[in-house]
Amino acid sequence: MTGYSDIVVDSPKSGVQHIRLNRPEAHNALRTALLGELANALSVAEQDDQVRVVVITGSEKVFAAGADIKEMADLNPVGIWKDKRPQHWNSIKAFSKPVIAAVNGYCLGGGMELAMSADIIIASEDAQFGQPEINLGIIPGAGGTQRLIRSVGKALAMKLILSGEFIKAREALYAGLVAEVTQPELTLKRATTLAKTIASKSPIAVRVAKEAILAAYETPLSQGLELERKAFLFLAATEDRQEGIQAFMEKRPPQFKGL
Ligand code: CAA
Repeated sequence: MTGYSDIVVDSPKSGVQHIRLNRPEAHNALRTALLGELANALSVAEQDDQVRVVVITGSEKVFAAGADIKEMADLNPVGIWKDKRPQHWNSIKAFSKPVIAAVNGYCLGGGMELAMSADIIIASEDAQFGQPEINLGIIPGAGGTQRLIRSVGKALAMKLILSGEFIKAREALYAGLVAEVTQPELTLKRATTLAKTIASKSPIAVRVAKEAILAAYETPLSQGLELERKAFLFLAATEDRQEGIQAFMEKRPPQFKGL
């Protein structure tokens, strides 16, 4: 698809749309224009029934090296306050379909925050994760202090954010940040296969499952369980549920329609 300069958006195939971050000259630094394009591409994907899952990836060497430091250098507090970046991050976060981040190489600062906004991270063995903002005299500004502790716990979140040190993919896997580690040349392929598997499920059940899981970040257990119960009841009214159960009984693959 055309019209973007900082990202490349493929046409959806088998329910999967790839979005590639494409600023090789700046290690895919997330300048505001890139975030705006990403937010726009996701809002188009939101409306497109052909898209059931999105895979976001970078290059073979870099997923993204964070916010664009050169762009940031020109912003005073009023500039940061008026900045459209939080709006773009909110649109990215609001995307209701599953997002998989396929990460090769550096995944730093805002790049790591983008990966953490995705629902699943598949990382190459050579991937390195870090929140090096502290080296610039700042802190993560797109959710890093909040999301990292929720996925890896306090000790590692503190270590990464306070020291700026990087961790490799295997450590990220053991810490629970990453779902799978692959050989570098297989990362995108594996992310795509996983995306196709998810795309073959009922899109309503997938959406409701994503919502319910993400609600766990925001709610106490009793409220989360209540929400899950209601979501479970809601799905009882779908044709996809009937089809899923019928297909099991008839020993055939289900044909989910999103109804
Ligand atoms: N912003 C702007 N440009 C960047 C960039 C960034 N975040 N990261 C890399 N680049 C540019 C470099 O300036 C360089 O450009 P020139 O060739 O024009 O000088 C080019 O990309 C290649 O970078 P390096 O020469 O530094 O490549 P390297 O392989 O030696 O090192 C690296 C790679 C370790 C990732 C290093 O580039 C680096 O440390 N980058 C900055 C990482 C960082 O601090 N990220 C946090 C940003 S702040 C943030 O993200 C805030 C937030 O949460 C919202």
